Parts: sequence; structure tokens; C-alpha cells
Amino acid sequence: MEMKLNINGTEHTVDAAEDIPLLWLLRDHLSLTGTKYGCGMAQCGACTVMVDGRAVRACTTKAKSVQGKAITTIEGNHDKLGATVIAVWNEMNVHQCGYCQSGQVMTATALLRRNPEPDDAAIDRAMSVCICRCGTYQRVRQAIKRASDQLKRQA
Ligand code: FES
Ligand code: FES
Repeated sequence: MEMKLNINGTEHTVDAAEDIPLLWLLRDHLSLTGTKYGCGMAQCGACTVMVDGRAVRACTTKAKSVQGKAITTIEGNHDKLGATVIAVWNEMNVHQCGYCQSGQVMTATALLRRNPEPDDAAIDRAMSVCICRCGTYQRVRQAIKRASDQLKRQA
């Protein structure tokens, strides 16, 4: 099946299986391997991307269902908000093994997009979809707060 997808601001035409999940289209057809496979069951958050600015699990999202929408992966998360989140992540060395972190960054970016000043409860609610086997949860929370502060100062 031919699909047309807008990914990171670029239109792509891809010929792929009709039921292909977005995750495999990104990774196998477009070599956008920053989006990771963890569980394949919408349980870990490693595959999170944004669709029209909202966090979505790419492993359980059919690629054909997001045609005509704006898909953002970690590779294209470079507007002011996304770049700030990534810069803070690096400044604070949030990563440990790194495997979950593109999903964490995309989930945090989507959170700050809809709630620029999230409190602890809002952070916990939004980030609870992201499992980190290295236990970086405290640094993730601190990084979201620092990114929120920096964005407020830049506004
Ligand atoms: S791989 Fe998609 S949520 Fe785990
Ligand atoms: S940094 Fe290793 S799984 Fe999260």
C-alpha cells in the first residue's frame, strides 16, 4: 500500500504493508532509528513520537492512520521547545544507558507543549508511560522543571 506521511516537516511516500505500525515504517523504511522498540504493546514508552503535537506510541499506531498528520520523531524535535528539552537533557546528563530516552524526551516535549508549567503530579501522570530500567526518573523530573523554567525565561 502506498502511504503519504509528513515526518519532521518532510512529505514521504512509502510503499509498505497496509497494517505496518508507524514504528517499523520509521525504522525500517526511513532509517529513523532514534525511535526505539521496547515492548511492542504500548507499555514502555520507548517508541513515543508526536502526532500533531501529542505523544503517541508508534508501536501500536498504524502508519496508515496518521497520514495527513504532522509526525515528529526525536530526529526532528528541533523547534524551540524540543531543542530546549534536548539541551537540558544533555546538560543534566539525564541519560544512563539511553535506550528509553528518546521516548522520554518526546513524552516530555509533548507534556510541555500542552502544559508549560507542569507540577509534580502532572509530570508523574504524563511520564508514567515511560519505563526506565536504569531508574532515571528523578533526573527526568528535574529536567522537565528546568526546561519549563528556561522556556518561561525565553518567552
Ligand atoms: S515499544 Fe511502544 S510502548 Fe513499548
Ligand atoms: S536510561 Fe537506560 S532504560 Fe532509561
